[in-house]
Amino acid sequence: MDHPLARQADRIEQIGDVAEIMRDYVETRTTFQTDKHMRVPSASYTDPDQWKAEMELVFKRVPLLLAFTAELPKPGDFKAMDVGGMPVLINRDKAGKVRAFLNVCAHRGAPVASEGRGNCSRFTCKYHGWTYGADGKLIGISEPASYGAIDKSEMGLRELPCEERAGLIFVCLTPNAPIDLDHYFRGYLDDFAALDFGNWSYMGSRVIEGANWKIAFDGYLEGYHFASLHPETIAPRTPSNCMHYEAFGPNLRIGFPHRAIGEALDKVPRADWGRQENNGFDFVRIFFPNVSAFIAPEITQIAQLFPGPTPGQNRTVLNYLRREPIRDEADRVAVEAAIDFFRDVTYNEDYVIGLEIQKGLESGAHDELVFGQNERGNQYFHEWLNWYLEDDPTAPEPVL
Ligand code: FES
Ligand SMILES: [Fe+2]
Repeated sequence: MDHPLARQADRIEQIGDVAEIMRDYVETRTTFQTDKHMRVPSASYTDPDQWKAEMELVFKRVPLLLAFTAELPKPGDFKAMDVGGMPVLINRDKAGKVRAFLNVCAHRGAPVASEGRGNCSRFTCKYHGWTYGADGKLIGISEPASYGAIDKSEMGLRELPCEERAGLIFVCLTPNAPIDLDHYFRGYLDDFAALDFGNWSYMGSRVIEGANWKIAFDGYLEGYHFASLHPETIAPRTPSNCMHYEAFGPNLRIGFPHRAIGEALDKVPRADWGRQENNGFDFVRIFFPNVSAFIAPEITQIAQLFPGPTPGQNRTVLNYLRREPIRDEADRVAVEAAIDFFRDVTYNEDYVIGLEIQKGLESGAHDELVFGQNERGNQYFHEWLNWYLEDDPTAPEPVL
């Protein structure tokens, strides 16, 4: 059963079964439900100690999706970025290998690449001009005669564990930490391999800022709010409060059926229902702890949420990818318009209320907030967060 083609057949079958479940939800006006409520302390969104613990025990421990194959396709391509206050540099060397480093010069700590994307074969620190190779090794220092002798082999960039898989580039923020994508994703990356994600094209990115990263993230984990918050943009196509959840370790695939799922599926044989993503239903794919990928017919939006400088702030990078490269100038204009539309909906409709929620939680009005039986995705996310914060690998893992 481990042959890739067999796995692919399993995947189509599984998505076909999910499509059938979602069609029933729409017909009977029901949704995925669990048997309990879950309470989360309001302080979890406001407390500086919680914020620190999340950085140390979650963000610095798990493999984070930090870049895309499509974003760094050529040898020499690099990206320098801020990840929750940590400067990270990701690059592809001449042989095609992707590496990640802390973007910090071994001399006196300046960044060796400015934030953003570019292409180069070596990095030169802008402070005193030390240069590093694509492998992070120190190549040369300025005025070595007066600086004095050093052992260059000990003065490289600090490397971070990094692995490229199925078009996705994962990095662990702790040097030398093990990175085990198979265990972490439990087969989920096959989904991206099946989508041929490694051959997609990168269309660009936008940055938005909002409230505590979990307030923002909670909004990606349910469709219970579509009717009230997105009456014009999402609800016309996708009914409110109609979700299906599947788990792959701490990660989720959330299914959102369209109102017209019945008509769409009636037109294709049952064996092909598993191939109808975006025709009758959509998926939002969640990588714990902070990524939400929405593959839409027009363009794919992949949000990376990072804790901001205080508990009440997050910085979200919205990445846009598409299966087909840009065709011409008119296509580029249309893509930019689609990107701005997605960014605006995400910011104006979800992030603005997030800032109000932040104020509400900081007001002390309620000690806890409560996730309902229909908000299983949120519950599952918070259960995994608590599991990591507990820092006891022998504790039983949450199950969906
Ligand atoms: S800090 Fe980089 S060369 Fe001095
Ligand atoms: Fe929303």
